[in-house]
Amino acid sequence: MNKKYYEAYDDRYKQVHQSQNKPWAGDRPSPTIEKLLKKYGADSNSSILEIGCGEGQNAIYLMKRNYNLDASDVSLEAIRWCKEQAKIAGVDENRFFVMDILNNNLDKKYDFIFSVAVLHMLVEDKDRNEFFNFVRNHLNDTGKAIIVVMGDGKMTRKTDATKAFDLADRPFEDKIIQVATTSCRMVTWDQYLKEFQKANLKVINHYLDKTISGFEVCMVAVAEKGK
Ligand SMILES: C[S@@+](CC[C@H](N)C(=O)[O-])C[C@H]1O[C@@H](n2cnc3c(N)ncnc32)[C@H](O)[C@@H]1O
Repeated sequence: MNKKYYEAYDDRYKQVHQSQNKPWAGDRPSPTIEKLLKKYGADSNSSILEIGCGEGQNAIYLMKRNYNLDASDVSLEAIRWCKEQAKIAGVDENRFFVMDILNNNLDKKYDFIFSVAVLHMLVEDKDRNEFFNFVRNHLNDTGKAIIVVMGDGKMTRKTDATKAFDLADRPFEDKIIQVATTSCRMVTWDQYLKEFQKANLKVINHYLDKTISGFEVCMVAVAEKGK
């Protein structure tokens, strides 16, 4: 079966892991996630889901700190890598699983769902709407979502999804390597906040963040289920 454009990261991870034996995104967690989890009352009893965990730098950090976390990604290679890193870190590798959130549902709801740098991979409106619907449908009634995307709230950009698997030169450490281009859509604050509203998610906090690993600037939004 043909891969969907938003699965191009699977190719990129394979290319980097095989040629460099290192993570594409590094292993530094983003402090923002734990800060926001704490601010909104998460503790070791709270159920947490990460969507699009990539190579697991945030998930493994939080698991090591005793958070009750499931972590998922559409990429088989990402989850293979995460399970290997989880074993090394001494956390439960079985909490990592492959899932395309645009085409799957879980039998479980969560107190917190977070996602770092995933939504901006989705260039089509219908896919972005599905992302928000998945989040809403998997939150407990008092649950909160923490969604971080690339962008400064002003610049807009939409790449051609048909080119997501094409190879492109990208800097990696001190060299240039060839990896899958992947996809990217950046939207304004106005559009981003409307997308939450459309899925009946009420944004209770939003701001620009320059501490997310691998990104110059990201838009962070925290939302809860609208009544
Ligand atoms: C830019 S990477 C970010 C990864 C990680 N969150 C990080 O901060 O390094 C985007 C991730 O989203 C995942 N992804 C894209 N579409 C997805 C979908 N429909 N369901 C689950 N994961 C998805 C990709 O496989 C990739 O791992």
